[in-house]
Amino acid sequence: MQNEIDDAAMVELLVDGCPVRAAAGSSVVAALAELDLLHTRTALDGTPRFAVCGMGVCQECRICVNGQPHVLACRTRCRSGMVIATGRLAA
Ligand code: FES
Repeated sequence: MQNEIDDAAMVELLVDGCPVRAAAGSSVVAALAELDLLHTRTALDGTPRFAVCGMGVCQECRICVNGQPHVLACRTRCRSGMVIATGRLAA
């Protein structure tokens, strides 16, 4: 019974091609932090960037979600089947 509840509270995502599970309703940036993946984009000088403000102001959490670039990870909730590309593999 407990596992059924836990499973219902989780969604499955693809992050950089790897299947992962995240808490349903959590933000994408929270899911990435939970995975210890602190990279949402790469600056022009190659520096990895990650969320700073967590409230849609700094723009540091811009990420590609379902092929759409520049989505704010801090303002986007995890949904089942979401495909997330951090850009770290291209860095
Ligand atoms: S963390 Fe600052 S805009 Fe998302």
